[in-house]
Amino acid sequence: MDKSQGLTPQSRFFRSDEAVILSVDRLQMRYGGKRAVETLDDFSLDVHKGEFICILGPSGCGKSTLLSVVAGILRPTGGSVTMNGRPITGMDWHRTLMFQSPTLYPWLSAYDNVAFGPRMRRMPRAAVDERVRRYLELVGLTEFAAAKPYELSGGMKQRVALARALVSEPSVILMDEPFGALDAFTRTNMQVLIRDIWRKHNNTLLLITHDVDEALALASRVVVMSARPGRLVGMFDAMFSHPLTGTAEDDAVRASDEYVKLRRAILNLIDTGEGKNR
Ligand SMILES: Nc1ncnc2c1ncn2[C@@H]1O[C@H](COP(=O)(O)OP(=O)(O)OP(=O)(O)O)[C@@H](O)[C@H]1O
Ligand SMILES: [Mg+2]
Repeated sequence: MDKSQGLTPQSRFFRSDEAVILSVDRLQMRYGGKRAVETLDDFSLDVHKGEFICILGPSGCGKSTLLSVVAGILRPTGGSVTMNGRPITGMDWHRTLMFQSPTLYPWLSAYDNVAFGPRMRRMPRAAVDERVRRYLELVGLTEFAAAKPYELSGGMKQRVALARALVSEPSVILMDEPFGALDAFTRTNMQVLIRDIWRKHNNTLLLITHDVDEALALASRVVVMSARPGRLVGMFDAMFSHPLTGTAEDDAVRASDEYVKLRRAILNLIDTGEGKNR
């Protein structure tokens, strides 16, 4: 494969044998009220099953809005989003959205927070128990199953939120700057964890981040948005996710020509010309 093609913004070079699971088609979002805000403008993106897409863009460009529309929380004012060919009309457990700050129920234990969704879906008790234990183990919190959120650190709370997002085994996981509030060390651990989960379970992920290195550490494809109203201004294949291991070897990958070039191209796009408002 010619790696340089990954440096061409706008090109739809991504080839996947997998079917398109999410199709965002000419999405427009205009918030109403006195100060009408044009937030998304003609945003289109096809997401293939098993992709890990990281979305970068200037603050206020409409990234959270985009994710809320895909989750089914917000209705767009134009265009459409379909999942497996069917229009998204509301929230359902096929897609979960994880926020920057963990939104746990403070009065419930870690276990009960994770069990909440499956119980709401009236899953049999034994099946709930098996799943909750499995996902708490996956995020390394087996010993803290009984702990309430106030007894957990920020990183641990975010891991509970992650287990809760995964426990329904959704086809699509949407993450809005999920590691933004974490310290660098916990952040790296969470990145390694989410990457391992993605590899093992072959979910489809859409993750928003402000951090180009985070995007390159995780994504199979990086999508760059312009300043508001958010348009798609660049798309890059990024297969560093596999060589990156969460260890010292990462440094060698980050020093490689390919990595440096791709990083620069993405930053240029965000900082200059295309990335700025028209
Ligand atoms: N409920 C709302 N009503 C009116 N305007 C809104 C609403 N939500 C967001 N906006 C506006 O839409 C624009 C995009 O907001 P959004 O939160 O999607 O941006 P973002 O890219 O996620 O920003 P950040 O990187 O800072 O999180 C902003 O100008 C914001 O003021
Ligand atoms: Mg946001």
